[in-house]
Amino acid sequence: MKMPTIEDALEISGIEVLHPGGYELSRRIGEIADIKGKKVLDVACGRGAFACYYARNFSTEIIGIDINPEMVKASVDRAKKDGVENLTEFRVADALSLPFPDNSFDAVIDECAVGLTSDPQKCLDEMVRVAKPGGDIVIHESIWLKHFPEDAKKEISVRMGTVPYALDEWVTMMEKAGASDIWTEDWSSIDRSLVKIREDRVLTRLEDMYSFKEKYFIIFPKILFKYGIKGIVYLNESNKMLMPLYYNGTLGYYLIKGKKM
Ligand SMILES: C[S@@+](CC[C@H](N)C(=O)[O-])C[C@H]1O[C@@H](n2cnc3c(N)ncnc32)[C@H](O)[C@@H]1O
Repeated sequence: MKMPTIEDALEISGIEVLHPGGYELSRRIGEIADIKGKKVLDVACGRGAFACYYARNFSTEIIGIDINPEMVKASVDRAKKDGVENLTEFRVADALSLPFPDNSFDAVIDECAVGLTSDPQKCLDEMVRVAKPGGDIVIHESIWLKHFPEDAKKEISVRMGTVPYALDEWVTMMEKAGASDIWTEDWSSIDRSLVKIREDRVLTRLEDMYSFKEKYFIIFPKILFKYGIKGIVYLNESNKMLMPLYYNGTLGYYLIKGKKM
């Protein structure tokens, strides 16, 4: 039986969990991709927190797509709550087959979700395809910073539910997709990235991502119902294996931008 990934737990929690770097990283994207007043696609937009952030803070006209209808509904609700319905649109769609013609957007962003598709190269190909010539393609992802055995990398990827690559591998994939002028920025420092993963509070330890109540009254009951006790044991093991890799610098986090020529 398939076991729950860390990404599965995050999605079924129903809790607004942001990506590493939180709003600071997204503000940086807004600046480097110069999205003020532009037409932008947010691929795998999750619960819409960032699409709405760009609309509110950069007056960006933004379309968010996500494969999960519940995420799309949450995004529509979020846009209403944030008063940015006029600048946002959300649709159910697959990042591997974007329902837009070539050259449609001034910039295309995917925050923390290329590595969790079944074909990250195809996802990047699609992002570049729908960007206008001269448009920016921006992603941020987990990166292998130190040598780690290939088998162990595979196991960690399965447990995370997303595949980290080395930085040069991400750059090569971006170039293969048709992006050039690749620019990268290191967001690996725990203080800068992983502690900013919650919207409502700054973490002091990664282990505190979920509160006691969220863990024991929301996530664990749902995991138990869907995967049984083995699911809980597996998820605990995954967290114990993953956390040290960020603390000891084996895994890091990078912002990567390229331009469609
Ligand atoms: C880690 S969350 C990232 C959400 C958001 N970008 C953020 O930074 O908070 C991953 C999201 O990717 C979505 N997703 C996974 N595979 C997808 C695919 N093939 N196409 C579109 N969305 C996908 C999931 O439904 C989930 O909402």
